[in-house]
Parts: sequence; C-alpha cells; structure tokens
Amino acid sequence: MSYVKEQIKVIRERDPAIKRNVEVFLYPCFYALFFHRLGHWLYNKKRFFLARFVSQLSRGLTGIEIHPGAKIGKGLFIDHGMGVVIGETCEIGDNVTIYHGVTLGGTGKEHGKRHPTIGDNVMIGSGAKVLGPFKVGNNSRIAANALVLQEVPEDSTVIGNPGKVVKTRGERVNPCDQLDQVRMPDPIKMEICTLKKLVESLEEKVQRLEGQLTVEDADPHQFCIDENCSAKDICDEYN
Ligand SMILES: CC(C)(COP(=O)(O)OP(=O)(O)OC[C@H]1O[C@@H](n2cnc3c(N)ncnc32)[C@H](O)[C@@H]1OP(=O)(O)O)[C@@H](O)C(=O)NCCC(=O)NCCS
Repeated sequence: MSYVKEQIKVIRERDPAIKRNVEVFLYPCFYALFFHRLGHWLYNKKRFFLARFVSQLSRGLTGIEIHPGAKIGKGLFIDHGMGVVIGETCEIGDNVTIYHGVTLGGTGKEHGKRHPTIGDNVMIGSGAKVLGPFKVGNNSRIAANALVLQEVPEDSTVIGNPGKVVKTRGERVNPCDQLDQVRMPDPIKMEICTLKKLVESLEEKVQRLEGQLTVEDADPHQFCIDENCSAKDICDEYN
C-alpha cells in the first residue's frame, strides 16, 4: 500500500496529465518499478536467472527494461516508458525523471562499472542516450535526443549529439569565451571563434562607415561607364 501511495505522490508531482489517483495503475512505470524491486532483491540474493526472468517479464509488460542489478533511488518517474533501457551497473539518485526512449547504457568498451551514475533531481528527455561510467551531476537536464558521452556537471543543461553543456546554473555557456588553449586544444573551434570575432568587428566598422555617408557623397556618374547605357540621359540631366 505504501508503494501505491508513493507512486501516486511521485506521478502527481511530475505529470500534470494525471486527473485521478486511480490512473496511477495505468502508468507502465508503476509496474516496472514494482518488478524491479523484486528483481533487485533476487539479484542481491545471487538468484541471477530468476532476477533476469522478472526483469524480462516486466519488459514485455511495460516496454521498460531495467537490469535487476541497477540501483535506483527514491521517487524515480519514467513517463510513457516505452523503449527505456537501464543497464546493470547504472545508479540512479532520488527524484529523477526519465522520458520514453532513454538509454542509460555502456559504450561496449568498458568492463566492471559500465553505465552512468545519475544524480538527484536529474531530468533526462525523451530519446536521450547516456553512455559510459561517468556521473551526471545533481539537478542537471539532458535534452531530448541528446547523446551524452562525458561527465555532466551539476545544475547543467546538455543538448545535442555529441552532448554539450549549454547552460550552467541558469546561465548560458558561450564556447568562444570558454576556450582554454592549454587544457582543451581544439584548433578548429579556435579558428572559427577568431573568424567570428573578426567578422563581427568588420560588420561594426561597415555599419559605422555607412552611417557617415550622406546623399551628397554619392556620385551618380561613377556608375555611368557604359556609353550605351539606357539610363545615361537621366544621369546627365541630373548632373
Ligand atoms: C533541454 C530542456 C530540458 C530545456 O532545458 P533548459 O535548461 O530550460 O534550456 P533552454 O530551453 O533554455 O534551451 C537552451 C538551448 O538549448 C536548445 N534546446 C533545448 N532543447 C533542445 C533539444 N532537445 N535539442 C536541441 N536543442 C535544444 C534551445 O533551443 C536553446 O538554444 P539557444 O541557446 O540557441 O536558444 C528541454 O528543451 C528538453 O529537451 N526537455 C525534454 C522534455 C521531453 O523529453 N519531453 C517529452 C514529453 S513526452
């Protein structure tokens, strides 16, 4: 009963679509997390086959595959659920929200700890892939469809493929200002940033010069180099 109450609280907090408490029984994560508790208990008792059996049963029912070895904190909410994969050595903190199509997996290159550690209050958008044994810091947000292959600092927003931090503590991160030529040499990015700054300063100069030009400065004859030009009469008259 306490499990049902906990799920109602979590889903009501995180999904505005829920209208009545009874709808909690319609959420796949309700069943997936229940089965995971059983599977994880069997896994810890070294009943590995039974543990995997429960996990696969749950996968068939909900479309959410959580390896029974994964450690999951309090208040996890998996919205929609279909296509979520959570690997064996994955650790998930408290109050994490995961949308459909998320993979918390390995790159296939590691042994031992192969899957990510997700901090508290992290949100992972639909379709995002977080691959490797690194940490995603507390309160961070992984954008829908991002591919994250590196540690994510706390309070950050990561977007894109490969994932890049675009915001930290609510402030936008500008890669030009962040260039560190000693520790992160990236000659192409540096070249692009230099060119961008040059173009910006040239644009400024052109705008300033345009502002100084007056109508009298314009010489209509300077364009009349063609003796057969049909507008030559008008230019001569103006002159
Ligand atoms: C990333 C997200 C959490 C917003 O986080 P945020 O910290 O508020 O970031 P912002 O909205 O300020 O966006 C920051 C930048 O990232 C871009 N961005 C946001 N989400 C993006 C995404 N999924 N893919 C690519 N770029 C994205 C924004 O356009 C913005 O770019 P700009 O700086 O050039 O304007 C949100 O956009 C997101 O992806 N949520 C996932 C929700 C989801 O999966 N829902 C499924 C419901 S069924």
